[in-house]
Amino acid sequence: MLEGKTVVLGVTGGVAAYKAAEVASLLVKGGAEVHVIMTEAATKFVAPLTFRTLSHNPVAVDMFSDPGEWNVRHVALAEKADIVVVAPATANCIGKVACGIADDLLTTVIMATKAPVLLAPSMNQAMYENPIFRANLDRLLALGYRAMEPGTGYLACGAEGKGRMPEPEEIVAEVRRVLCVRQDLAGFTVVVTAGPTEEPIDPVRHISNRSSGKMGYALAEAARDRGASVVLVSGPCALADPAGIEVVRVRTAREMLDAVMRRLEAADVIIGAAAPADWRPATVAPQKIKKGSGPMTLELEMCEDIIGTAGKHKGRRVVVGFAAETHDLLEHAAAKLAAKNLDFIVANDVTRSGAGFGSDLNEVSIIHSDGRIEEIPLMPKTDLAHRVLDEVARLLRRKPETSSPCGDPRESS
Ligand code: PMT
Repeated sequence: MLEGKTVVLGVTGGVAAYKAAEVASLLVKGGAEVHVIMTEAATKFVAPLTFRTLSHNPVAVDMFSDPGEWNVRHVALAEKADIVVVAPATANCIGKVACGIADDLLTTVIMATKAPVLLAPSMNQAMYENPIFRANLDRLLALGYRAMEPGTGYLACGAEGKGRMPEPEEIVAEVRRVLCVRQDLAGFTVVVTAGPTEEPIDPVRHISNRSSGKMGYALAEAARDRGASVVLVSGPCALADPAGIEVVRVRTAREMLDAVMRRLEAADVIIGAAAPADWRPATVAPQKIKKGSGPMTLELEMCEDIIGTAGKHKGRRVVVGFAAETHDLLEHAAAKLAAKNLDFIVANDVTRSGAGFGSDLNEVSIIHSDGRIEEIPLMPKTDLAHRVLDEVARLLRRKPETSSPCGDPRESS
């Protein structure tokens, strides 16, 4: 899958540098041409010869050892790279890049490249949580740099915590995702809803559900990687704002509806992966409701149906829903497809273990408007997101006028 791609692999001075050897090896096995740049500190952990042997290319360390060659080489590598991967990326390296410091070959190449840069941070948990580091990383993310979440577990310093470099296989999978996806959504605006909503009962209690936001965030990131301009309307969840995406944080279904409808005119595609509440308390107590001694009854009223409202004002847009079911999956999902005027619906049985709410994986059936049913086996939500977007891209191609301004949101189709 990486045939014909050039990966510049930056290795900085952390103990995880030894795992970068496996990254180089997997990239080469995947067909990529790999050029390794090591910082001086990285060479204290692993010898350049290891990377030279694995990548079949000279390893660059010192900017000045052979000025005639390297002055040109740093620009050549920056231009040649389809992606620059920094694994491990230390707090020092991330800090330098965030501050525009280019004082060695690696940081110079990072500054000079127009290719995507993927950082695989690795450090001690206290450093990872340090506000200076967080600000540096946030700055890079806002500029479109990509960073993977470090793993949690035993760290080289002897402590347990967050800061382990992601596993080599995960890094290579991320490289594949960044490099190999088609730009078939370029020029389109995709609005994705994600996560649960919270419907307040009183100032300290609310009604919500178990949605983690993972499915919606995966869709938003996949759409971004395929070139779309993406708005992610997210209910309360623990996931960080993805880079290069406009994230609108909302709490209630009413706020989610408002956020989606405000963007309807600009949208070519609307995907409802959120699990917004169906009912909310009819009144919200201004003060904490006292416990009392007996049972208590809450009167609920219907919430707004966000994706149903978008379906009503569909115009030429592609509108996609999800269905979270516990029984009679296909029958219930097909009814929602019709009732909400959707182009297709992604039905998941949320009682299936290892899929649905909170999981990194999902197993679904896609029901098309012509009645066709596609069974999609258990797979990472990040991969499923691409399967869903394949279908979205196919529908957009069949509606060529979608790329021109969409119809008036007030006009029903
Ligand atoms: O967030 P994760 O932990 O990754 O879990 C993913 C998921 C299980 C939440 C996701 O795969 C999923 O199924 N999302 C839809 C959840 C849901 O609300 O399903 P539903 O069958 O109740 O609703 C049908 C459709 O109407 C959905 O597109 C939903 O977003 C939409 N809806 C529902 C209620 C409401 N008030 N407004 C809506 O727009």
